Amino acid sequence: MNRRTLPMILVVVLCVVALCMSLAGRKVSAQNVTALAAPVYNPYPPGILPSDLNPELARVLREVNFVETEAIGQWHALPPPTLTGNPPILQNTGVASVEILGKLMNFDKNISPNKNTACSSCHMPYAGFSGPIPSVNLTMIAYPGSEHFRAGKRTAQRYTYSSYFPPLQYNATQGAFFGGNFWDSRATGYLLRSPDAEQSQFPPVDPLEMGNPDTACITYKLSLAVYRPLFEEVWGKGSFAISFPANTASICATPGGAAVFGGSATPVMLSADDRGRQVQVDGK
Ligand code: HEC
Repeated sequence: MNRRTLPMILVVVLCVVALCMSLAGRKVSAQNVTALAAPVYNPYPPGILPSDLNPELARVLREVNFVETEAIGQWHALPPPTLTGNPPILQNTGVASVEILGKLMNFDKNISPNKNTACSSCHMPYAGFSGPIPSVNLTMIAYPGSEHFRAGKRTAQRYTYSSYFPPLQYNATQGAFFGGNFWDSRATGYLLRSPDAEQSQFPPVDPLEMGNPDTACITYKLSLAVYRPLFEEVWGKGSFAISFPANTASICATPGGAAVFGGSATPVMLSADDRGRQVQVDGK
């Protein structure tokens, strides 16, 4: 073999390997699309759902997975905060721990019944915390929730300021209403004195969004999350001292509104104490 042939053979071998890899990649993504396209709910007239919806949802899910993995890496790299002082406060890396926990929860697709929708699926940072699929933004506007293709009527709000909005109030000088959360301010904040805290109770159990049948499902899924130790570090060791019944997993894998629940909003049977603890975790 002369000095020229060897590099030529190497180049040919590399090209064949690259071709095989790209074909294999295509096969995988085609399978994903089929998996997503299989048993879907599509009551719409032709032309409402954009034709690239399945590959776009698959792309967004890949991005969500990537950021979640990144956040897990950031959590592992972070020295644990020290709980000290009076009142006790998480010092040093405390703020970073809370921020990373927020990122982990925001990009956690496992919180949805079909394990396919994270909060960020509709509220993506690079889209100003709104929806990241151009064809959806130009057509159906609302984003498919965990149960494809149930979708709401509105576009996802860009929510970075929502925690600063005051409870809904009428300003007599301006002659207009101010405050509240959601497009129509229906999360008024009247009960909790924080519209954002009130608002946050809804997306996880909205049948058109995350679609959980019971708020207890969020607590249950957080108790199984890989980042549970970080949650307990931030919110306290006893956070998940709750006895979940054996059928919790199957209840929580069924989207909210399913006929099997007979209209119940709390199908997970918990003792009164455990329900109280669960509501506390969900409020975080
Ligand atoms: C399927 C898409 C979708 C998912 C998933 C979703 N949202 Fe939303 N979000 C919306 C839509 C649509 C609105 C506006 C709803 C309305 O006004 O009725 C909204 C509104 C909000 C608001 C109100 C912002 C404001 O300024 O009033 C916040 C905060 C929010 N979502 C947080 C979340 C969180 C946290 C999660 C995950 C637990 C989540 N969302 C999951 C679509 C989604």
